[in-house]
Amino acid sequence: MDASTESLARQWLRAARHTLILTGAGVSAESGVPTFRDALTGLWARFDPEDLATEAAYREHPGLVWDWYEMRRGMVRAVAPNPAHLAIARWAAAHPGTVTLVTQNVDGLHQQAGSEHVIELHGNLFRNSWLHGCGRCDAHRTDTTHPPSCTACGALLRPAVVWFGEDLPRVALYRAQHAAEIADVCLVVGTSGLVYPAAGLPGQAKAAGAKVIVVNPQPSALDATADAVLQMSAGDCLPRLLAM
Ligand code: OAD
Repeated sequence: MDASTESLARQWLRAARHTLILTGAGVSAESGVPTFRDALTGLWARFDPEDLATEAAYREHPGLVWDWYEMRRGMVRAVAPNPAHLAIARWAAAHPGTVTLVTQNVDGLHQQAGSEHVIELHGNLFRNSWLHGCGRCDAHRTDTTHPPSCTACGALLRPAVVWFGEDLPRVALYRAQHAAEIADVCLVVGTSGLVYPAAGLPGQAKAAGAKVIVVNPQPSALDATADAVLQMSAGDCLPRLLAM
């Protein structure tokens, strides 16, 4: 990776009044959380998302899908944030009010690393919601069914993550798009750039005048939008790129 691209990226980050940081599964890969699309190790290489990450799949196989998310929760509980998560948290703390962190990840590792006000576009594994509940559903008083269900209406508890075909949380998306509009720099870390609307944020930021920096050891769909591509792992790159 040529040093001049990295030093240019560092200059842009230091001069930025507003920075949008967009992360994907790659930022958690070095913590041991599988990505989605990496050839052999990715979740979608081993499981069919249509069977596990849609409302239809949950209705058809609620126990199977619930157990799969319990498995993922267990996997994340067993790992810790890595140097990339920590570098982002330190950078944001040292530049108060100028950094917006938007993640596609549902693992909560940014928050564990100390990042605050993280915008979670795809929800969070450790929160639950109801599958079309009656409004009086109480997660503390559920039936002993598997998955748990509401004692009043029988609605199923579900992981509060965004499934395919579902809209993103509106406030989170609005805040992320606003951050793209005002950003001077958009730092994109560890995403294939294939899933919209998240993958549209760097292009939106660029159209509004921002410099786009991509960090990914592999080519990604966002490289063409980038002003600087740093083909390295997040854990190697970010501690240097965001060094104080
Ligand atoms: P992907 O699995 O599609 O892409 C992960 C990216 O991280 C790939 O481009 C890898 O090359 C890169 N990568 C792998 N190891 C890395 C490392 N150590 N450092 C930096 N980058 C690394 O994951 P996402 O782009 O996050 O959506 O996927 C987007 C969405 O698709 C997810 O949020 C999920 C999935 O379906 C929902 O669940 C709604």
